[in-house]
Amino acid sequence: MPIRQPPVTLTDVTDLNTPRTILLTGATSGIGKALARRLAVECHSLILQGPEPTNRVQSLLAELRASGTAVAYVQIDYCNLAEVSAGAELIKAAGKIDVVVNNAAIPGPQAFHQTTDGTEATLQVNAIAPAFLTQCLLRHLQPGVRIVNVGSAAHHFAELDLADLEFRTGYSSTAAYGRSKLALVAWSLWLARSLAGTGIDVITVCPGVTDTPLSAAMMGRIGASPVRGAGRVYRAISADVPTGTYLESDRPAPSSADALDARFQAKVVEMIRGSWPAVARPPHEA
Ligand SMILES: NC(=O)c1ccc[n+]([C@@H]2O[C@H](COP(=O)([O-])OP(=O)(O)OC[C@H]3O[C@@H](n4cnc5c(N)ncnc54)[C@H](OP(=O)(O)O)[C@@H]3O)[C@@H](O)[C@H]2O)c1
Repeated sequence: MPIRQPPVTLTDVTDLNTPRTILLTGATSGIGKALARRLAVECHSLILQGPEPTNRVQSLLAELRASGTAVAYVQIDYCNLAEVSAGAELIKAAGKIDVVVNNAAIPGPQAFHQTTDGTEATLQVNAIAPAFLTQCLLRHLQPGVRIVNVGSAAHHFAELDLADLEFRTGYSSTAAYGRSKLALVAWSLWLARSLAGTGIDVITVCPGVTDTPLSAAMMGRIGASPVRGAGRVYRAISADVPTGTYLESDRPAPSSADALDARFQAKVVEMIRGSWPAVARPPHEA
């Protein structure tokens, strides 16, 4: 009978003290803000993204810079893919990146909402835009880079009907959020496979139920502090786990059957790429 290994629980490592530049999206609230505070005292420089104009986040930036870390801020609203490609150019101009953390997301809106790009908003902000940002940055990333995509255990209970991207049937806030996270996790696992051998790692992590504006909008005030959620993403940045690992509760875990299915992943990737307007596509994708 095979001996079952006990599940490994990740613990903190401190190698982030070596000079590192981390791109962190969704840094202006909740888990991202808590993670930015932690990273500001440990890494060389931070490039932060949020949807707000810089003047609205000045006090956070000043607080982070007080630790001596260089902090750049890029305003990108993921509801507009042209902003994503323009923001990617600013990010690239900031220099070499060692870690990309795709953390930004929205809760499902109470009622169906379409972006100016013509896509259901949750799917665009939580899956299509982070994939697009990553694609825009890929040629800029060197071997040794780690991409951490913040997914959610909500993807286990979600369905994504690729024939109903407009969500004409069964729309609800939580269903919209769940399917967007299923798309993100499936894309993330596909990306890990497609980048295998390049030296670029892709890790997917669920931070756990966390008391933030996102969770409050869908479930009320529940969950752990953003500091705990940030700790889980932090360990995904630094953990010695292979590319393609999906982490829940600080442990490698199986993602859903759909997310693991290569055919489903390919369809999701096709949908994601098909949602990028040609005008906003990076030159090598046009
Ligand atoms: N909270 C949970 O229980 C939970 C559980 C599992 C997974 N997660 C995941 O954890 C990550 C962080 O979520 P959170 O709970 O910390 O949420 P949050 O506090 O609402 O933070 C979300 C971040 O995304 C930004 N954002 C919102 N709309 C955007 C847009 N249109 N374009 C670009 N950025 C936008 C927000 O900016 P603002 O400053 O304007 O809000 C904020 O910085 C998400 O990927 C989420 O799906 C959360």
